[in-house]
Amino acid sequence: MVKIIMHGCCGHMGQVISDLAAKDAEAEIVAGIDISDKGNTTYPVFTDIKACQTEADVVIDFSSAKAADALLDFCVERNLPVVLCTTGLSEEQLAKVEETAKKIPVLKSANMSLGINTLLKLIQEAAKVLATAGFDMEIVERHHRLKLDAPSGTALALADSLNEAMDNQYHYVYDRSQKREMRDDKEIGISAVRGGTIVGDHEVIFAGPDEVIEFKHTAYSKAVFGKGAVEAAKFLAGKPAGRYDMADVIEG
Ligand SMILES: NC(=O)c1ccc[n+]([C@@H]2O[C@H](COP(=O)([O-])OP(=O)(O)OC[C@H]3O[C@@H](n4cnc5c(N)ncnc54)[C@H](O)[C@@H]3O)[C@@H](O)[C@H]2O)c1
Repeated sequence: MVKIIMHGCCGHMGQVISDLAAKDAEAEIVAGIDISDKGNTTYPVFTDIKACQTEADVVIDFSSAKAADALLDFCVERNLPVVLCTTGLSEEQLAKVEETAKKIPVLKSANMSLGINTLLKLIQEAAKVLATAGFDMEIVERHHRLKLDAPSGTALALADSLNEAMDNQYHYVYDRSQKREMRDDKEIGISAVRGGTIVGDHEVIFAGPDEVIEFKHTAYSKAVFGKGAVEAAKFLAGKPAGRYDMADVIEG
């Protein structure tokens, strides 16, 4: 049985993970951490991370970028592996994640779903053929009106995947409103739509002369992210220090 501390336990994803863990014979949430205890859990909740001394095998985090530094310090201090799912981390925080991974196991993924992680690979194959042949690459993402960061962490991961396939020769353009000029060959445009209750849509568009190929992933419920996070927690518990991602979980 893998014992989990759920960081951000009272939020939307925290509740999804709580429901999944309650039905999972191999995983148990032993404690939660959340700055605001909404009374919606069946396990003890700590509103101050420093007060949590509960024994556990791994931490799952779906909270806020503001919480990332204290969380990483807590995990190093307690020697706890961490599945980091919060998006919108700053450059400094991303560097801290890499430093932390030298001391404890850290699995960070902007998107925990099997579908997106498969898409990350498929678009690399497509880019090698299509971008090389002169197709333009654009990403459009859509999310619910409550989402704080834009573009989504997943859109950036998709762009990074495309760029990596093309030897990192591309740059990203988020906002075309400020410049009146045609796109250049080596750009990846990223557009964000926010509205209603859209769980998460991502389109990767390869637009060439007289033909267009589109890859689209639609998340119909947050459970797709939750399932991936619980599987990642089971995978990470007991692993040596290092930087892991969802590809490691999928490949076993
Ligand atoms: N990687 C993925 O697959 C994936 C999927 C969905 C959401 N996310 C990301 O996960 C994060 C949380 O998403 P959500 O929809 O559950 O948000 P949410 O706002 O519903 O929940 C966040 C929870 O974190 C708590 N919190 C905020 N600041 C905190 C702090 N300093 N310390 C402790 N707890 C704190 C809040 O009180 C809240 O209960 C976001 O960054 C979102 O983009 C990632």
